[in-house]
Amino acid sequence: MFIAAVSPRSTGKTTVIWWLLHALHARGYDVKGFDADESKQLYRWWQASDQEFDVARLADTRFHEEAPGELPDGHVGAVDCGHLENHAGIGYSVLRVADLTIVVCAATNGDVERMEELPMDGFLELSWRKRADNVPPPPVWVLLVRVQPGTRTSPEGIRKGLVDEGWNVFTTMIPSVQKYANTGEGLPIHAAGSHFDELVTEMEQRGLISK
Ligand SMILES: Nc1ncnc2c1ncn2[C@@H]1O[C@H](COP(=O)(O)OP(=O)(O)O)[C@@H](O)[C@H]1O
Ligand SMILES: [Mg+2]
Repeated sequence: MFIAAVSPRSTGKTTVIWWLLHALHARGYDVKGFDADESKQLYRWWQASDQEFDVARLADTRFHEEAPGELPDGHVGAVDCGHLENHAGIGYSVLRVADLTIVVCAATNGDVERMEELPMDGFLELSWRKRADNVPPPPVWVLLVRVQPGTRTSPEGIRKGLVDEGWNVFTTMIPSVQKYANTGEGLPIHAAGSHFDELVTEMEQRGLISK
């Protein structure tokens, strides 16, 4: 299966995919990363580290044709997309094959507005049109990230607003902390017990992933 992280602009996608790869791997999943962003940030993090899993570079509008053949059997492919506002073509291609889409949204009204302006729901529907008619749309879940530690009211308000609009929103939220901000600096990643470990548990409980 493919899990894709998307957002209209920079929110925390690469950080989410890098930690999710580690968290899934630590929980016994076979994983492979796909860098579908021309910035190659995920790929560079992988190159600079010593990982037991692979990351492939595939920032291509033919992602939907090429990536399935590059995902080994039984593996979860975690795909880091570029910002949809600037890289719509690649994002569209990724979403054609994504089995689970994570919309990475900073917990601010500004980022929610950018989702509406894209518009994210229209973008997703457009990509699903290419699927066979009888296949139901794949699950889409919003992940709130960079939540200020110690604040509950504001992120819960944003969460409620999104739920009222019909979005699925993970109850797990990723706080804005130095540990995650430092992700690309080559420090070892300890995913067990992190918020991303919690996210894997929530994904399992909701039946979104399984081994
Ligand atoms: N949970 C977090 N806490 C603190 N900083 C974060 C967090 N997630 C992302 N960042 C920072 O936000 C910026 C954008 O993150 P990044 O993962 O590169 O987003 P994107 O891939 O959407 O552009 C980076 O400087 C990153 O270190
Ligand atoms: Mg990125």
